[in-house]
Amino acid sequence: MAAVVYVIISLLTLVIFAVRSVIKNKTKLVNHAQFAWLMNLIITHCHKMFEQRKRQLFAPLKSLRSGSRENLRLLEIGVGTGTNLSFYPEGTELICVDLNPKFQPYFEATMKKHPHVRGKAFHVCSAEDLLLTAVWMQ
Ligand SMILES: C[S@@+](CC[C@H](N)C(=O)[O-])C[C@H]1O[C@@H](n2cnc3c(N)ncnc32)[C@H](O)[C@@H]1O
Repeated sequence: MAAVVYVIISLLTLVIFAVRSVIKNKTKLVNHAQFAWLMNLIITHCHKMFEQRKRQLFAPLKSLRSGSRENLRLLEIGVGTGTNLSFYPEGTELICVDLNPKFQPYFEATMKKHPHVRGKAFHVCSAEDLLLTAVWMQ
């Protein structure tokens, strides 16, 4: 029930942001900062709704290793606030990509709550530019 209330509040906020943008004659209805803030609000309060299903989906990661490495090295595209961190196995090394730089502070706050995951990098770029990211990672 609480989750539904938060979704309604978030949608109303989205409408307010959009109306403000129209009034101010901006091209984007929601800017990067507003979208990151809104996503954080929704995810924080709706995490429980997806938790069980995500736990099932991410479970096979436990049996994976990256080549000869002890740890699993993961690339998450569109990491957002880092909601998936709690589902990653102990010792995961995480490289993140997100096109919205305003997610980074939220992601860093989430990282602090999940010391079992080691953040290797947070690249601000779009998935379409992953070749560039691959070059940075070398
Ligand atoms: C709905 S959120 C998902 C966040 C998180 N991965 C989760 O499962 O809860 C989608 C994220 O993907 C990012 N994103 C969308 N299109 C992208 C693209 N083309 N390249 C990189 N990131 C993208 C958005 O900025 C946002 O942070």
